[in-house]
Amino acid sequence: MVTPIGSVSSAEASRLVSGIVEVDRVLGGGFVPGSITLFGGDPGIGKSTLLLQMAARLARQGPVLYITGEESTAQVRGRAERVGAVVDGLSLAATTDLETALAAIDNIAPVLAVVDSVQTLSSAELSGPAGSVGQVREVASRLAEVAKVGGTCVALVGHVTKEGTVAGPRTLEHLVDAVIYLEGERLGTTRLLRAAKNRFGSTDEVGVLEMRGDGLTEVDDASRFFIESDESPTAGSAITIALEGTRPLAVEIQALTAAAAYGSPRRATTGIDVNRVLMLIAVLARHAGLNLTGHDVYVNVAGGLRIDEPAADLAVAVALASSLRERPVLAATVLAGEVALSGRLRSAARVERRLLEASRLGFTRLITGPARGASSASGAGLVIARDIRAALSEALEA
Ligand code: TYD
Ligand code: MG
Repeated sequence: MVTPIGSVSSAEASRLVSGIVEVDRVLGGGFVPGSITLFGGDPGIGKSTLLLQMAARLARQGPVLYITGEESTAQVRGRAERVGAVVDGLSLAATTDLETALAAIDNIAPVLAVVDSVQTLSSAELSGPAGSVGQVREVASRLAEVAKVGGTCVALVGHVTKEGTVAGPRTLEHLVDAVIYLEGERLGTTRLLRAAKNRFGSTDEVGVLEMRGDGLTEVDDASRFFIESDESPTAGSAITIALEGTRPLAVEIQALTAAAAYGSPRRATTGIDVNRVLMLIAVLARHAGLNLTGHDVYVNVAGGLRIDEPAADLAVAVALASSLRERPVLAATVLAGEVALSGRLRSAARVERRLLEASRLGFTRLITGPARGASSASGAGLVIARDIRAALSEALEA
């Protein structure tokens, strides 16, 4: 059918909004009707829990079908009791047969169909076993078709698997409209949602959730969530404003340096690359006169977050120096900057955005390095230090 462009409506079909804000935001404002979204993540991270909670919320807006190929309906019901998902409008179907699942969707015409998981379903029309590349693709593409035709939103669960063994979410990325990963440390309670692909939204958004006894819960002020200390700064702790996508998060870096016993000292980290910390230890020794060779060093990112951006360097270096010198970071001070091997500092990317968040949270100083090139950031509270030595004297109590 041909339509003059002037007569085409630009309005997008209205989205299916769950009300779980952290998830809706990562989706780009809710599910788009007729779309298929893959939710990936390690086994046990909380995918089934999240989708059951979403299913229950969306059942207020129309029929929702949860197809379980992995667990029995009794098991799903048990989890539903725990997370408050025993609601009208939500139906379960236990099957591992793709054709049966498609027929159920066709029959109920749900607003949302959850398929848990893509690896457990298989089509009788193909020969490979469930979870094989061929089957997984068949499952995703036939579900995508059904979604498009009936306007149902399909949420597909996929376990991230070790490369090569079973077909995982990577095989499916181009067959679905959006790919959302649920991440977190298995033992911690923090869970992050990130979009790896989103045909209907940005991939920069990050959702922060916490796994509790009654399911995944939104955290009140995500930006404060990764700070453990109370008001008074203690030695060995420094706060950075990290950017997760476009979202600034205040994150506490904790360091402990302790005189080592015999042999080579220990260096252990959680939430940050140990090699980056080793580099910072060397820079501190060479350019700030802080010798840690005889010390065990532990560095921890609070709240179970994992930080990869170099802008966290400065906070790590300052936390280490703070612990070694037993001097806390000055009150209301945060740090964000990259440390070079020369000891020179560089500004963090989008430092003004970070500064804004810092002041929203009540911090009055953000110490960073000079910007690259001619452009220089400015703003009340921005403290620019040229090198690590200068930054330490700006950051630590005398
Ligand atoms: P699950 O959603 O089954 O993970 P996945 O589908 O990704 O494999 O969640 C598994 C873990 O979550 C399990 O170890 C128990 C924990 N959990 C809670 O802590 N609170 C809860 O309310 C629920 C339902 C699960
Ligand atoms: Mg599961």
